[in-house]
Amino acid sequence: MSPDNIILVGFMGAGKSVCGRLLARRLGRCFVETDDMITAHDGRSIPEIFRAAGEGRFRELEAETLEALKLKSGEVIATGGGTPCREGRMDQLRALGTVVWLDGELRELHARASRIGNRPMLEGRSMAEIAELYRSRRPFYGQAHITVDTTGLGADQVVARVLSALRDAHAARV
Ligand code: S3P
Repeated sequence: MSPDNIILVGFMGAGKSVCGRLLARRLGRCFVETDDMITAHDGRSIPEIFRAAGEGRFRELEAETLEALKLKSGEVIATGGGTPCREGRMDQLRALGTVVWLDGELRELHARASRIGNRPMLEGRSMAEIAELYRSRRPFYGQAHITVDTTGLGADQVVARVLSALRDAHAARV
C-alpha cells in the first residue's frame, strides 16, 4: 500500500514550493520541502552547504532526506530540482505516493528561479549550460505519474490543474 503522499518534482523555478504549499492547504494536508529538511538537519543554508562542502555533500544530504521521507504519509512534499536526478531516485519517490512533474518552458522557469535567487546550480552557468542541465534532467522528471505544463499559468491555475489530474489518476485506479 502506497503511503499516499503527493510529491512535486521539477526544475528550479517550476513553482514546487509555492504550488506545493497551496495544494497542501487546499487538501488540508501537511507540507514539507526536502530543502528545508536539509537545512534544518545541517544548520546551514543550501548556498552555504554548496560553498563550504560542495555539491557532492549536498547530494549526500539529499539522499539521507529521502530515507527520512519514508516515514511520511498523506503529505505534500516539494523536492529540490536535482533530487530525482540520480539512478533509482524516481523509483524511490514513486514508492512514496503520486509524483507530479511541474514542467514549463525553460525560459520561464529560469526567469522565475533567477528572480528568487539563492540557486547555487545556476551561479556562473551560461544559458546554454543551464539548458543542457535541464535537458539531462528531463528523463528523470519524465518518470513522474503526472505531468503538468505550467507555462503561462499562475500558482492558483497550476494547483487547479494538479488537483484535476490527481482526480483523474485516482478515478482511473478505482
Ligand atoms: C537544486 C535545486 C534547489 C536546491 C539546490 C539544488 C538543483 O531547489 O535543492 O539549490 O540541483 O536543481 P529548487 O528546485 O527548489 O530551486
